Amino acid sequence: MSELVATPQLAELVWVPKAAEIAREAGAGLRDFFAQGVETEYKGDVDVVTIADRTVEKLIRGRLGEVFPEHGIYGEEGTRERLEREYRWYVDPLDGTTNFAHGFPQFCVSLGLERRMAGLAENEDGTLEAAIIYDPMREDLFTAERGKGAQINGKPLRVSKTEHLAESLIATGFPSRKRHESPNIHFYNEFTLRSHGVRRAGSAALDLAYVAAGRLEAFWEFNLNPWDTAAGVLLVAEAGGQVTDFAGNPFRLDSREVLASNGLIHEELVGLFTNMFAGRGLSPIPTAQEFAAQRLERAGG
Ligand code: IPD
Ligand code: CA
Ligand code: CA
Repeated sequence: MSELVATPQLAELVWVPKAAEIAREAGAGLRDFFAQGVETEYKGDVDVVTIADRTVEKLIRGRLGEVFPEHGIYGEEGTRERLEREYRWYVDPLDGTTNFAHGFPQFCVSLGLERRMAGLAENEDGTLEAAIIYDPMREDLFTAERGKGAQINGKPLRVSKTEHLAESLIATGFPSRKRHESPNIHFYNEFTLRSHGVRRAGSAALDLAYVAAGRLEAFWEFNLNPWDTAAGVLLVAEAGGQVTDFAGNPFRLDSREVLASNGLIHEELVGLFTNMFAGRGLSPIPTAQEFAAQRLERAGG
């Protein structure tokens, strides 16, 4: 049987065509702000909030409200509308704000649609129905609908076929705040030693889209929010990959742990997380002090 997945005709897609138009409009807005050099506000330590985030969320909120007036919206910049409805959009108007504020061109718009059947408790997930992630700098439009596969600019998307972590390129991210509370640097270290490398490009939604596209074998991060993950998780699943928490349990939008992969290396990744959480299997590397002593010794000091 051919492994090629047929590209759904536009007419078969229920949500993507209109939502993709909105994501493109939003992306064009981000591109304009980026070209002008956006004014940046600093809130607290390193939390960078830009005018672009808020302006573009407002645009998306307005356009989603016109096109899908029955749907709820849950946006990073504070939009909470019609959350009692069956369908809910998770909106990140600008994923990669720190990059954007520094002129580093790696950011995107992320729109994920969840269907919440009647009777679901607020802490229970519905089903992810549609995903749109748009990178306005590369004009990469990643889209998916449940059961209909994933696409990039209308062409089918598949995860990579790499079978071992040792031959994988993977990615992670670090929170912009409270980094002292995150253990992720230990995982970054260990995965770096065991793979072709770990990228840390600063947009979780694009990282997930890249797993779906086979540009990365895996991605993990602690403490993401539903607006970061809703679209990317569906993209990975529809491209043939797997998404769980760090213990291999099904992913949940509020689980605060995401581990996405091409599926083939998933067990190996979960095994490594399990070992690391149990304090096993860490590869030794020299401390800065040990390295300095060796350096001195080499210099004959
Ligand atoms: C952030 C990005 C980043 C991730 C952070 C997120 P934002 O989203 O996705 O890659 O490491 O955890 O908060 O703030 O740029 O929308
Ligand atoms: Ca985000
Ligand atoms: Ca954001």
